[in-house]
Amino acid sequence: MVRKETIDDAVKDLFKGIRFPAEPSGLYDPLGYMIAIGGKRLRPRLCLIAYSLYKDRLGPEILEPAAGLEVFHSFTLIHDDIMDRSPLRRGVDTVWKKWNPDTAILSGDVMCIDSYSRITKCPPKCLPEVMALFSKTAAEVCEGQQYDMDFESRETVRMEEYIKMIGLKTGVLIACSAKMGALIAGAPEKDCESLYDYGYNLGLAFQVADDYLDAFGDEKVFGKPIGGDILNEKKSWLTVRACEKASEEELGELLAAFRTPAVTDEEKASKIARVKDMYLRLGVADDAQEMIREYTKEALRHAAKACEGVRYEILKRFAEKLVGRTS
Ligand code: IPE
Ligand code: IPE
Ligand code: MG
Ligand code: MG
Ligand code: MG
Repeated sequence: MVRKETIDDAVKDLFKGIRFPAEPSGLYDPLGYMIAIGGKRLRPRLCLIAYSLYKDRLGPEILEPAAGLEVFHSFTLIHDDIMDRSPLRRGVDTVWKKWNPDTAILSGDVMCIDSYSRITKCPPKCLPEVMALFSKTAAEVCEGQQYDMDFESRETVRMEEYIKMIGLKTGVLIACSAKMGALIAGAPEKDCESLYDYGYNLGLAFQVADDYLDAFGDEKVFGKPIGGDILNEKKSWLTVRACEKASEEELGELLAAFRTPAVTDEEKASKIARVKDMYLRLGVADDAQEMIREYTKEALRHAAKACEGVRYEILKRFAEKLVGRTS
């Protein structure tokens, strides 16, 4: 096992020695920018934690792939912010806003490629399995993002469709991070699968929390604009649950509020306030908190299949930190 402080330091230092090429700066500057502006580094941390359940030291064979997971995640954010028309990320301008959408597309592309070259630095013995896992995951993230966009123009979405969508756009990468750490450590196959399921359920909890914070979070802490999902008419967990619970009359009211065009800042603020008011009246903000706890419990049931004692406690502590997220 590896001490928590060692993992904390490794996560902090993950990008210390990493420089992206200098030229052409129009292509590579946004990569350095995305890494420099931070983020929670959740996926590399989980990868290192899973690895450390089976190994006593962290070397380049795990640090490079862990960094690759964060680079890949940051790439998905660059493209996601274009698709979601979001001006703010990690409390600062998004790449398409600071530069322009064309730059965000191409810098995102090269960032995705960079992530592959880091992940291939895993030990040759597990390379085929690691690459198969990562490529499958990357394609699934795209599938989830497509469903997310398709749902914007749909009037209603069923809960099972929504869960499938967030499982793809968010769950699988967190699941992959845990499994990749275990695979590289040479863990038994059964443990790798349990850790995948642990990560997947944590990912579902994480995305429901993200949807909750998008409406009810504090912009300064969350680092993203509050109400963005409402303005984009996203089918978030709150929307889907609200549609399930609403009476016919309330459903009409909710959909009318959701479909109201909002162009000026005043119109936007009023649309966000109306929809949030409906969420509160229907009690879906509390339901979201309950759901986050449920998915976290399910994640821990899978963690318990892979390990016990101190090792289980490490996975539990990581899960509890996610449940309490505010950013
Ligand atoms: C944001 O991910 C995208 C979602 C899956 C909700 P994070 O909340 O992990 O973003 P950073 O990396 O900490 O900024
Ligand atoms: C993003 O979901 C998931 C991916 C980037 C793959 P969101 O669109 O909810 O993420 P945020 O809220 O912009 O971080
Ligand atoms: Mg999105
Ligand atoms: Mg987004
Ligand atoms: Mg979001």
